[in-house]
Amino acid sequence: MKSVVSYPERGTGGRNTYRGNFSPKFVEDVINFFKPDAVGDYTVGSGTTIDVCQANKIPCIGTDLNPAFGGVNLLKDDLPPVNMGSHSKMPTLIILHPPYPQKMVLYSGRQWGKVPHPDDPSHYENYQDFIRAINRMHYHAFLTLPKGGRLITLVGDAKKKGRLYSMVKDMAFFGTLEQIVVKAQHNCFSDSQQYSGKFIPIVHEYAVIMRKDSCCYETRVITVSETAYDTRKYQNLSWRQAVRSALRNLGGKSELSRLYAELEKFFVTKKHSDPQAKVRETLQKSPEFQSASRGVWSIQEAA
Ligand SMILES: C[S@@+](CC[C@H](N)C(=O)[O-])C[C@H]1O[C@@H](n2cnc3c(N)ncnc32)[C@H](O)[C@@H]1O
Repeated sequence: MKSVVSYPERGTGGRNTYRGNFSPKFVEDVINFFKPDAVGDYTVGSGTTIDVCQANKIPCIGTDLNPAFGGVNLLKDDLPPVNMGSHSKMPTLIILHPPYPQKMVLYSGRQWGKVPHPDDPSHYENYQDFIRAINRMHYHAFLTLPKGGRLITLVGDAKKKGRLYSMVKDMAFFGTLEQIVVKAQHNCFSDSQQYSGKFIPIVHEYAVIMRKDSCCYETRVITVSETAYDTRKYQNLSWRQAVRSALRNLGGKSELSRLYAELEKFFVTKKHSDPQAKVRETLQKSPEFQSASRGVWSIQEAA
C-alpha cells in the first residue's frame, strides 16, 4: 500500500450496484498491510468488508443502520464485538465508509428501507450538522478501539454551487493521525453526469488512518474552527495593502479626507507619527493607484 491507491478492477465482494460502495481491493490492501486480528465495519453498506474478511479468514463484524445488516446505529448504539470463536472482542481495526455530504448519495429510504432515517447523515441538508454527525460516528467507533488499534475511514468531497464540501478538511481527527491515503475513484455515478460551467471533476477520496495511542479515558482531538480575520486589525499589513483595502471599501475611488478617515481604523496607521503623509506617499509611489482629479484617488481593478 502506498499513499495513493487505485483499483480500476473492483474485485470480488459486496455489491457494485449499491451506490457509494468501495472496492474490495481497498479492504484487501488494508488488511494485508496492517494484518489485524479482528476487523469491524459499522457502515458496511453492501457487505464488502465482511466478504473480504471471510475470503481472507479474518474474524470480522459488519453492521449498518440498514436492518438487513443489524440496524446498528453508529451515532447511538453500543457497537457489537467480533466473534473470535472461543470468545468475542472489539475490533483492533475499524474500517468505516460514512455517507457523503450534500445528499450526493441517499441511503435510508433509497438504497434500503422506505423512509429516510433521522440518524442517516446522507439526508442532512445542513453541512455543519452533517460534519457533527460524521465526527460523532468516528468518535463512537474510535472509543471502542484498544490501545494500538486503528480507525480507517474513507471520506469524499462534494462540489455544489461553486463550493467544495471537503470532509477530510472539515472533520475532526481522533488520536494520532497516522496517514492520509488518496484513493482514485473509478466508475462513479458522477462520471456520467454533465456539469455546466468550470468544474474540476472529483475523482478521488481519502482514507484517513487514525491510531489510538492512549489507553483509556482521554482522546486527542483536532478540530477545525471557522473565524473571520479583519484586515484593519492585521499588524503586519503593508501601507500599500492598507490603502488598497480602504479604497476598495470606499468603492474604488475617494477624496483624500475620506480615505484618511477610513484608514484611521487600521492598526498600521495608529502606530505612525504622520499617517496622512504616509498615505499620500503610498498613493504617489504605487502605479496601482491613480489620481482621478485634484485630491481624489482611485484604484482600477476588474475581478
Ligand atoms: C458509503 S456507504 C458504505 C458502502 C460500503 N463501504 C460498501 O462497500 O458497500 C455508507 C453506509 O452508511 C450507512 N449509515 C448511514 N447512517 C448510519 C448510521 N447512523 N449508523 C450506521 N450506518 C449508517 C448507510 O446505510 C450506508 O450503507
